[in-house]
Amino acid sequence: MYAAQLPALHQPIEWRECRDLQPEKGEILVKVSHAALNHRDLYIQEGLYAGITLPCTLGSDGVGVVVNESGAYQQGERVLICPSVAWGSSEKAQGKQFRVLGMPDPGTMATHIVRPEAEVFPCPKHLTDEEAAALPLAGLTAYRALFTQGRLTRDDRVLITGIGGGVATMGLLLATAVGAEVWVTSGSQEKIDKAIALGGKGGASYKTDDWGKTLKKASGGFDVLLDGAGGPGYNQLMHVANPGGRIISYGGTAGSIPKLSPQKLFWKQLHLIGSTMGSPRDFAALLALVNKHEIRPLVDRVFPVSEINAAFDYFRSGQQQGKVVVSIG
Ligand SMILES: NC(=O)c1ccc[n+]([C@@H]2O[C@H](COP(=O)([O-])OP(=O)(O)OC[C@H]3O[C@@H](n4cnc5c(N)ncnc54)[C@H](OP(=O)(O)O)[C@@H]3O)[C@@H](O)[C@H]2O)c1
Repeated sequence: MYAAQLPALHQPIEWRECRDLQPEKGEILVKVSHAALNHRDLYIQEGLYAGITLPCTLGSDGVGVVVNESGAYQQGERVLICPSVAWGSSEKAQGKQFRVLGMPDPGTMATHIVRPEAEVFPCPKHLTDEEAAALPLAGLTAYRALFTQGRLTRDDRVLITGIGGGVATMGLLLATAVGAEVWVTSGSQEKIDKAIALGGKGGASYKTDDWGKTLKKASGGFDVLLDGAGGPGYNQLMHVANPGGRIISYGGTAGSIPKLSPQKLFWKQLHLIGSTMGSPRDFAALLALVNKHEIRPLVDRVFPVSEINAAFDYFRSGQQQGKVVVSIG
């Protein structure tokens, strides 16, 4: 088998021949067709991630076909791999053994991967391989944040920040699918326009000083706010939130939150909620929602694995809206 491995920090990815994998009882050997990139892959390459072990095979998102006959799956069946490893026994939060797939466990950017049966799921039939590869990590994170943690219903008005992001785009698709009204922020008008074309109601640039005021006036305020940025903009989220609003944070792209008003927090009875990835149960619920509404993840660009370093550079540039996919096949 071959795998896209990071040999050392700050180095290009190398496509290397590796020892073939042998599944044990209860494990599934998957021949990977497509993988996708996440911020995490860049952070690992740049040495900005905890507990890096090298060399490592990157990649948390993957779709492929089952190679070995198992109790649950037929040979040749198309499957999606859950990016959460060893979530643990509680649905409230991950346990101590929890890991994200792709370092230290060998990831999806390889011709083959072995996963426990419980972390492999039937792939939604309406998705192409490229779309399926775009779903797992971003979809799982958006699903848990919006539904499990944020208790989103169709009656909620939703704000999603940084709509160019992979999780944010999936959040838009999932929330609009259930009938919620969704507004967005972005650093790019083009991305706001695309979000509106995908079902969003409107948006504002987070690069303006008063985007919070503009959005509050235009929308009337938000019940659920999905945020991957943090940073100084977080205070504007508290301003645009409706009384009793739920602000769910899953990322910190814009850094630490400089000051937070306790008065605004208690007077508006706000809920500040954190969310990370999701359990296999969240993943199954995500797939049920994707199947029910025939949701199609947004693929920005597909690179062949021979151009994997170009894919990393493109992802790093931040031009994408939706996922950057790597074709392994
Ligand atoms: N907790 C978890 O389980 C989990 C899972 C996945 C990711 N994350 C974290 O979540 C963050 C986003 O990840 P991703 O892979 O979805 O993102 P991504 O595709 O890398 O995109 C990040 C987005 O952040 C937006 N952004 C940049 N500065 C901003 C600001 N000041 N205010 C608002 N938005 C801003 C940009 O939006 P525009 O392009 O629209 O300007 C950009 O597209 C990262 O920090 C990542 O590590 C956490």
